[in-house]
Amino acid sequence: MEEEGRIRLQKYIALSGITSRRKAEELILSGRVKVNNKIVQTLGEKVDINRDRVEVDGKHISIVKHNVYIILNKPVGYVTTVSDQFNRPTVLDLIKDGVKERVYPVGRLDYDTEGLLILTNDGDLTYKITHPRHNIQKVYIAVVEGIPTQKDLDKFRKGMKIDNYFTSPAQIKILQTMGGKSKLRITIHEGKNRQVRKMCESIGCPVIRLKRIAIGNISLGDLPSGKWRYLKKHEVNYLKNL
Ligand code: URA
Repeated sequence: MEEEGRIRLQKYIALSGITSRRKAEELILSGRVKVNNKIVQTLGEKVDINRDRVEVDGKHISIVKHNVYIILNKPVGYVTTVSDQFNRPTVLDLIKDGVKERVYPVGRLDYDTEGLLILTNDGDLTYKITHPRHNIQKVYIAVVEGIPTQKDLDKFRKGMKIDNYFTSPAQIKILQTMGGKSKLRITIHEGKNRQVRKMCESIGCPVIRLKRIAIGNISLGDLPSGKWRYLKKHEVNYLKNL
């Protein structure tokens, strides 16, 4: 039982939205967490949510009392990180006028990729969606140079070697071909760095345009580019129950 106002340090960190409870344990064990200016490096410590001052990597964090879940149609030309070393616009610029809570992108989309991005301050949900074990499918529409052959499509479906890992079996369908280019629908289950681009490149069909249209059952629908909305209750429940 938790005494009133006192919760475990890893829970406090997860409730701040910066990361999941499990990752918070790693932060504690690696000496990156301070309570009232003292490093705490053991698990099981409790903190008083109204009094204690918790810092991660020297930054003061406080717990979130209200979780928010947002879906954004990211345009090309925005980074998915919270800040950018080259001062490029970030996805947070697109929501800052309407959302006062500090939220974080769930996973990444490349600067030149558009489409569905979820943002939240719920660290445990972020962990759930991004952990490979949950195998959640991500659906992309890619316009590529060239027209994939049957052999190319089979490579996607069986899994292929990229960098030094094997992709898990993906689904791929040619939706349209026009003037030596193709429009493909590709579903993958992981989210390695530039994975779809690398897969397309490896069959000799470099990506011209890439858009994510779904994560699991959550679809972008007709949300216009650059716009966001709150996820509906049933969508949040779906993600929490993954
Ligand atoms: N795959 C990519 O290549 N880029 C993305 O942004 C997402 C998936």
